[in-house]
Amino acid sequence: MATAFGSVFMPEMSITWFDGSSWSAVEMVPSDSIQLHPGAHALHYSSTCFEGLKAFRHEDGSIKVFRIDRNVSRLAQSARLLALPELDEAFVTQMILDTVKKFAADVPAPPGSMYIRPTLFGTEPAIGKAAAPSDTACFYVLLSPVGDYFAGGDRALRLLVEDNGLRCAPHNGMIKSGGNYASALLPTMKAKAEHNVDQVLFCPNGDVQETGAANFLLIDGDEVITRSLDESFLHGVTRDSVLTIAADLGMKVSERTLSVDEMLERIAKPGCEAALSGTAAVLAPVGTMVYQGKEHQVGNGGIGETTVKLRTALNDIQWGKSEDKHGWLTDV
Ligand SMILES: Cc1ncc(COP(=O)(O)O)c(C=O)c1O
Repeated sequence: MATAFGSVFMPEMSITWFDGSSWSAVEMVPSDSIQLHPGAHALHYSSTCFEGLKAFRHEDGSIKVFRIDRNVSRLAQSARLLALPELDEAFVTQMILDTVKKFAADVPAPPGSMYIRPTLFGTEPAIGKAAAPSDTACFYVLLSPVGDYFAGGDRALRLLVEDNGLRCAPHNGMIKSGGNYASALLPTMKAKAEHNVDQVLFCPNGDVQETGAANFLLIDGDEVITRSLDESFLHGVTRDSVLTIAADLGMKVSERTLSVDEMLERIAKPGCEAALSGTAAVLAPVGTMVYQGKEHQVGNGGIGETTVKLRTALNDIQWGKSEDKHGWLTDV
């Protein structure tokens, strides 16, 4: 039986601790446990953030990390917005590259990859600090080898269109922090049970935003439409990469507000496609939307041609099969 995405780990991870004034020398330690005080700030007040990026094996045996600069700067942004101790971006970059290098031999060949999970959290044993930041912190880089995301078959997803709820507090949306995922969990579980959907597409105030763990793109002919960046949702690295590739392929990229009404009108047309973008799947096709109890088919209801074309173009860069003309790959 295939193991679930992200449930296998390399035996060691790199780690550093902030004591209130400086970060300790990076160490490699066993990845199966860390010791924390039960009063640790992160466990009570969610002073925690993380990243998700991938390293790929190329045919010549080299290992490349995809868009590490973007993930490191997003981590720095999350840390800043959560009042966590600052981490130097060059230091984090080197720590990630060194960790992957240590396990270079274990990076799976495409369509697999090494998923990288840098994690930062407040460790101060201080349950009285509900309204004050943690003085101390921990940062580690955990690795998880992953196989083919579509091994079970590439199928078009069903989404519940939710215009009556939020994924998370709007000012927190662009922070990659656990609390945001916990906040989306119950509405997602409810939607799965009641509507047999895969995910919820959150559309606060009737504007299409994102799902619990991916950005949303509407592909109508040669135009890609997706919400423009604001603080209410996560600024996906895959979203940015797919938009760049779409523009390279001569498609029109429209970053703007998209209302539920406009989306439902557009998806009814044959040839319209919708997809979810994220590091895990790259682009996952959406075939059906459920809105106010009614089912709406997206285009032909199956896997969109342009979705697959864009996904293949991005995979080809990641896997070293086409030129990395934007300089997205970093050698370990
Ligand atoms: C809430 C949310 N939105 C969007 C994304 C996509 O981001 P990225 O493409 O950087 O993986 C993720 C990815 O994990 C996510 O959790």
